[in-house]
Amino acid sequence: MCHAGAVNDRTTDATTSRASIGILGGTGPAGSGLAARLASIGHSVTIGSRSADRASATRDELAERWPDIGDLLAGGDNAAASDADIVVIATPWDGAAAVAQENADLLDGKIVISMANALVRVNKEFQPLVPPRGSVAAHVQAAVPRCRLVAAFHHLPAAELGEIDHPIDSDVLICGDDPEAVREVSAMVDGIPGCRPLDAGQLSNATAIEAFTAVLLQLNVRYKTRVAPRLTGISDAS
Ligand SMILES: NC(=O)c1ccc[n+]([C@@H]2O[C@H](COP(=O)([O-])OP(=O)(O)OC[C@H]3O[C@@H](n4cnc5c(N)ncnc54)[C@H](OP(=O)(O)O)[C@@H]3O)[C@@H](O)[C@H]2O)c1
Repeated sequence: MCHAGAVNDRTTDATTSRASIGILGGTGPAGSGLAARLASIGHSVTIGSRSADRASATRDELAERWPDIGDLLAGGDNAAASDADIVVIATPWDGAAAVAQENADLLDGKIVISMANALVRVNKEFQPLVPPRGSVAAHVQAAVPRCRLVAAFHHLPAAELGEIDHPIDSDVLICGDDPEAVREVSAMVDGIPGCRPLDAGQLSNATAIEAFTAVLLQLNVRYKTRVAPRLTGISDAS
C-alpha cells in the first residue's frame, strides 16, 4: 500500500502545474512502472495501448495497488496518450518508430521521450542490436522529424520504477539534439526521488546508451539482481 506522504512529499503541491504525460505502449512493465512513478510526483499520465481496453485495465490495476495516484491516471489508445504535453515511447524497439509515425500529427512539435532499447536475448546472453540510424531514438526522430526527441530512462529497471514507495537510486542518462527539451526532461527526472539526471549530449549518443542496457541486463543475470547505473566524478550535475 502506498501512502500519500510516501509517494513524494516534494511534489504534491505542484500537481496542476506539471506537464501531462502520455505513454505509448504503457501497458508493459516499463511503461506502467513509469506511469506510476510519474504520477507519484504529480504528473497526470495517460497510459496508451493499441487497445484502449487493455490500457484501462492497466490503469485500474495501478490504481488498485496505489490508490493515492488513481486520480492522476487514465487509460486510452495510443492516440489518446499522444495528446499529452510530453509523450514517452515504451514499446519494444521494433515497434517504436511505427507507433510514433502513426501518431505523427499529434507528436509534431512535442517533446517525445524514447526509452526503448534494441536488444535480443540469445539463451542467457543479451546482445545489442543496431536499428536504422543507429538507435531506436534516432529512428523515431527520423519517423517524426518535427518532434523534439529526447532519449531517457533506458537503464531504470521496470520493477524499480513501479515500486513507488521506494526511491530509485540511479543516474538517468539523457540525450537529444534540442537542448531545451533535454532540460525539461532533466527537470522531470530530477523530481523523481533518488534519480539524478545527467546531460549525455547529442542524440547520436543514444546508440551507446541503448546498447549499454545489454551490459546491465547481463549483470542482472550474472549477479542475480537489478542493477542501475551510478556514475562517479560529477559533484554538481546542474
Ligand atoms: N522492462 C524494463 O525493465 C525496461 C526498462 C527500461 C527500458 N525498457 C524499454 O522499454 C520498452 C518497453 O519495455 P517492456 O518491458 O514494457 O516491453 P513489452 O512489455 O514487451 O512492451 C510494452 C508494450 O508495448 C506494446 N507493444 C508490443 N509490441 C508492439 C508493437 N509492435 N507496436 C506497438 N506497440 C507494441 C504492448 O502494449 P499493447 O499491446 O497494449 O499495445 C506492450 O504491452 C522496451 O523497448 C525496453 O527496451 C524496458
